[in-house]
Amino acid sequence: MTTPDMPWGTYAPGMAQLPGTQVPGTALPGTPPPGTPGLPPQLAPAAPAAPAQPTAGSAATRSGRFTPEAARRDVPVLQRPVNGRPVVWLDNGATTQKPRQVIETLAAYYATANSNIHRGAHTMAREATELYEGGRAAVAGFLGAPSPDTIVFTRGTTEAVNLVAQSWGRANLGPGDEILVSTLEHHSNIVPWQLIAKERRARVVPIPLLPDGSIDQDAYADLLSFRTQLVAISHASNVLGTVPPVKEMTALAHRYDAKVLVDGAQAVAHFPVDVQDLDSDFYVFSGHKLYAPTGIGALYAKPEVLAGMPPWQGGGNMIDQVEFGRVTYAPVPHRFEAGTGHISGVAGLRSAIDWLSSFGREAVAAYETALLAHARQALAAVPGLTVLGDAPEKIAVLTFTLAGHDPMTVARWLDQAGIAVRAGHHCAQPSLRHYGLETATRASLALYNTAEEVDQLAASLTQLQLQGAG
Ligand code: ALA
Repeated sequence: MTTPDMPWGTYAPGMAQLPGTQVPGTALPGTPPPGTPGLPPQLAPAAPAAPAQPTAGSAATRSGRFTPEAARRDVPVLQRPVNGRPVVWLDNGATTQKPRQVIETLAAYYATANSNIHRGAHTMAREATELYEGGRAAVAGFLGAPSPDTIVFTRGTTEAVNLVAQSWGRANLGPGDEILVSTLEHHSNIVPWQLIAKERRARVVPIPLLPDGSIDQDAYADLLSFRTQLVAISHASNVLGTVPPVKEMTALAHRYDAKVLVDGAQAVAHFPVDVQDLDSDFYVFSGHKLYAPTGIGALYAKPEVLAGMPPWQGGGNMIDQVEFGRVTYAPVPHRFEAGTGHISGVAGLRSAIDWLSSFGREAVAAYETALLAHARQALAAVPGLTVLGDAPEKIAVLTFTLAGHDPMTVARWLDQAGIAVRAGHHCAQPSLRHYGLETATRASLALYNTAEEVDQLAASLTQLQLQGAG
């Protein structure tokens, strides 16, 4: 049923092999032989990932370009069938599939290294603490952040935005202040601002879109004023794929002393990010859209901004001294990490960053851009199909309508062919309403998707249309 070195390398229906459920007597990946001191290789500290450059010795550096097969080989779930067909995973905007390196890291952590952090005097507590803080350094390197202390671990993008809204927002927003939020935002970058704006009697002001799904830059310039305290913009739209000119928008906002929060949930897996080059005040992302486990994500904030923020959640780990009459807090970033963190998630996140970086970030971005061009062409040939959003800078997200079929019917049809797409409002209702729609179907691509898979999508949609016509 398993092989000792890669138990998740093959999928057989009903196998249900969970990490940590090995056949008795079979070594877990990375389990050191009895008596071996220290952490297994999966958990050994690695150098922080560099942001934009291909990693030395990576597939991209060696071959000069990225091919999806290199990534596919590592992702076991892509071998499984769905409805009798090899799965075609085109729901990467919702979550990405995990490479075996990440899966093995989680198993190795629980099999060999599980401990709480920051508060134990024993060996395994120290090791787990090093692992967790090594993950923080890796995230800092991945984002081009100036220091690990600028990184706060959160459950994901949503929690990170809420943290900023509840901490920075409560301390800095007042009556009449404005928060400019682009119309293409995910609900997680709209609703937290609505909540705090209501409490602080501030206003959330939408920045309109152009017909192609770009943010209207003239309208943005007109809306900015000294009332603007914060601009909330996505680095890549989960519905339209739009990649706004975040650096230029940030520079403009800073002229008015406004802070800028960038939602990188749909960006970090697809192109290199450098928060210092962007001059972001806040940058947030989720691990699970970056080939890492669910339940882990991060907030980057400029050191001086983070240092001035009051705590949000209270509890263990975030304090210095507690008396009933007085409490003092831990320094940043620990001040914002109340309770036990997602330690295995951090280990998995670091593993995912190492995995993605090993292919060369620029090479992966170039591949996905070429795949998007192919997908646009393939879908243009499907009768009655309209793609929403045609911004000049765009990630490989294709949200579409198919004449005569509601989005859920389309998704169910594709599912019968093993093709996974999302149908619905995509947690971004304002961007769909920009096109007069409540729902649509979305194919969102990632580095392991191939032109052949895109062709299967187009063929299956054409078949649906022909069947409908017949
Ligand atoms: N925010 C995720 C998506 O766009 C769930 O599908």
